[in-house]
Amino acid sequence: MNVLHGNNGGKGMSIEHPRIAIAGLGNCASALVQGLTFYRRGNSHSGLMHPLIGGWSVGDIHIACAFDVDRRKIGRRVAQAIFAEPNNSRIFCHDPDDDGAVVYPGPPGDGVAAHLQREGFPQHVEVDPQAQRASAADVGRVLRDTGANLLLNYLPVGSQIGAEFYARAALEAGLAMVNCIPVFIASDPVWAGRFQQAGLPLIGDDVKSQFGATIVHRQLMALAESRGIAIDSSYQLNVGGNTDFLNMLERSRLAGKKISKTQAVTSQLRQGLDEQRIHIGPSDYIPFLADNKVCHIRMNARGFGELPLELDLKLSVEDSPNSAGVVVDAIRCAALALRHRRGGPLGAVCAALMKHPPAQMSDAAAATAMEQWICECC
Ligand SMILES: NC(=O)c1ccc[n+]([C@@H]2O[C@H](COP(=O)([O-])OP(=O)(O)OC[C@H]3O[C@@H](n4cnc5c(N)ncnc54)[C@H](O)[C@@H]3O)[C@@H](O)[C@H]2O)c1
Repeated sequence: MNVLHGNNGGKGMSIEHPRIAIAGLGNCASALVQGLTFYRRGNSHSGLMHPLIGGWSVGDIHIACAFDVDRRKIGRRVAQAIFAEPNNSRIFCHDPDDDGAVVYPGPPGDGVAAHLQREGFPQHVEVDPQAQRASAADVGRVLRDTGANLLLNYLPVGSQIGAEFYARAALEAGLAMVNCIPVFIASDPVWAGRFQQAGLPLIGDDVKSQFGATIVHRQLMALAESRGIAIDSSYQLNVGGNTDFLNMLERSRLAGKKISKTQAVTSQLRQGLDEQRIHIGPSDYIPFLADNKVCHIRMNARGFGELPLELDLKLSVEDSPNSAGVVVDAIRCAALALRHRRGGPLGAVCAALMKHPPAQMSDAAAATAMEQWICECC
């Protein structure tokens, strides 16, 4: 049974399972939806940080509904729409379980960059007129009717209006929220206060991938510092061929992303690093890479006797599953908080799983604090 017993505006819920509403059914959502079936069917726990959280396995997460703007996704079952163009993440589960969840139109807001709407452009988005007409009332009705208890925000980078729209929708429908994108909701005191007041859990902002550029770069910086190495400068360059990288060619959409990724790394150094000496960002869109992200990290430093030390590292990883491996934990933590009536940002969980939490911690301290929080709840 995956039944929701009442959606009561954040006053605490008795939930059987997390039932998620997904805003933005792109590549990250595709990897997540495939992963739910993959782990539900298999005996393997390989690739997971937590086989169980709150008694829930990954396969216990169910999908209530999704919202998108693309005509190739709207109206279809989520289990099929995740394979529609322009999604190009790797298929590792060809026939995901069909929960009956459908993709509904959501208002485009600032979700689709102008260059992504140009017909003929590779991986362009085809905005459906139904999406142009969708209202907050329509979205709220779907959230309530489908029994969602948690909203997952997977809109494109730069969707300030869109992220705020879905944060408001979650609040009004009494849902927890996991904000996977670099628009500041959990780390914004005003939005955090609204979720706190409503008694609704909030996790954000900007998911820290399972073994991605951010966590590797953070760990290397912290390791170097802990060994007495002086870091002079560092850069992190990322390339990929998915819609996320295509979207990020529009540099004006990147303000939040740049802050989030840079602070995630410099926060690990006691003295930080002068902004002139650190460069982190998406660098280019290379179509044939598809969902494969390639990251180059460079560190220039000095060791004993102030003698120079250089590090060059290349990490190649499938981008979207790398985020899904973390999001499955965030979803179950948010559901656990709902069950225990914990409202507002979940500090330790945000610090462990997100690049731009309300307060940064070291990865080790955040992981320990998150384990403690889970134990307290169970
Ligand atoms: N490892 C990772 O992949 C990773 C890590 C951290 C953060 N993120 C963030 O997660 C988000 C999702 O990434 P993705 O790769 O799935 O992107 P994507 O471009 O593949 O998917 C975005 C989806 O949102 C839809 N959309 C656009 N505007 C919308 C609106 N107003 N309402 C509803 N749907 C709308 C698009 O049609 C598309 O289906 C991005 O912001 C990305 O930066 C990803």
